[in-house]
Amino acid sequence: MSESTTAERYLRFGRIAAQGSSPTYTARCEEIAKNPDFLALLDALPEPKRQPNLLFGAVRFLDGPVDESFLSWTTAHWAGVTAVMLARSTQTNEAGRCATLMPLLARLPQPLALIEVGASAGLCLFPDKYRYAYDGQPSFGPDSPVVLPCRANAVIPRQMPQIAWRAGIDLNPVDLADPEQRRWLEALVWPEQGDRLARLRAAMEIVRADPPRIVRGDLNDTVEDLVAQAPEDATTVVFHSAVLAYLTAADRRRFAGTMRRLPVRWISNEAPAVADGKRLELLLDGEPVARTGSHGELLEWI
Ligand SMILES: C[S@@+](CC[C@H](N)C(=O)[O-])C[C@H]1O[C@@H](n2cnc3c(N)ncnc32)[C@H](O)[C@@H]1O
Repeated sequence: MSESTTAERYLRFGRIAAQGSSPTYTARCEEIAKNPDFLALLDALPEPKRQPNLLFGAVRFLDGPVDESFLSWTTAHWAGVTAVMLARSTQTNEAGRCATLMPLLARLPQPLALIEVGASAGLCLFPDKYRYAYDGQPSFGPDSPVVLPCRANAVIPRQMPQIAWRAGIDLNPVDLADPEQRRWLEALVWPEQGDRLARLRAAMEIVRADPPRIVRGDLNDTVEDLVAQAPEDATTVVFHSAVLAYLTAADRRRFAGTMRRLPVRWISNEAPAVADGKRLELLLDGEPVARTGSHGELLEWI
């Protein structure tokens, strides 16, 4: 990849992905794209490790600044920054997405056996531990330090799912008992997203107290075994959010085939094939039912 291509990548990230959500990252991307010396440092890294999110997360993980001193600090600490970038990958786990999954879960025959593929630390496996605040409606759910606000275009029944059993699968599960792994998740939340950071910390505390079982492995290789372990007297639900983009088209087709064949309900919350900005598409058993905000802040029933 040439220098100008890395520059374009940072400009694209700043002007599209971070635009409106992180003025700080937009400004830093503009500065990086104009700095040939810094672009040369990035270009010495393997191509997948030049991602803006990974760079910014690594600097914040090391308690570096993201203000105007970003470039000078990062250049001065480049060996440490690259060590973090090479050792780690971008990662998210967004409990907020439960606000868009929860109404679907609550209307299935109860109780539920939940299986999340691409579970990360498993924060979305605990929709029954969070409180829900749909716009214009009284909040409901348990008394919880995690309250999930969501704009919805319909009244959401004040009904919670009953979860009898839960488990997850991830290629690289996040171990919340490890403070460094928790700090890495925190470093990847953009600087302006203070609410998301507070929610992440509170959800990690809840889940850390009673960690779910998360099987390490590829979802295609492991999901069938896990489904076989779910209790028979519960509705088995396999769900995933923001995961399928990591799979090849062939692996996505294989997974969809497995979901259609197994005796499960299947909830998918993923970027649609025809991308439209920052919305995800929510499907139940392969049928689109809603469009959702990427962090669970919006639920638009179709
Ligand atoms: C963007 S995170 C989303 C995490 C969580 N679903 C959420 O909504 O907060 C994607 C997760 O999928 C996992 N993943 C990617 N490819 C996978 C695969 N083939 N099998 C299992 N997990 C995978 C990654 O390790 C990562 O934890």
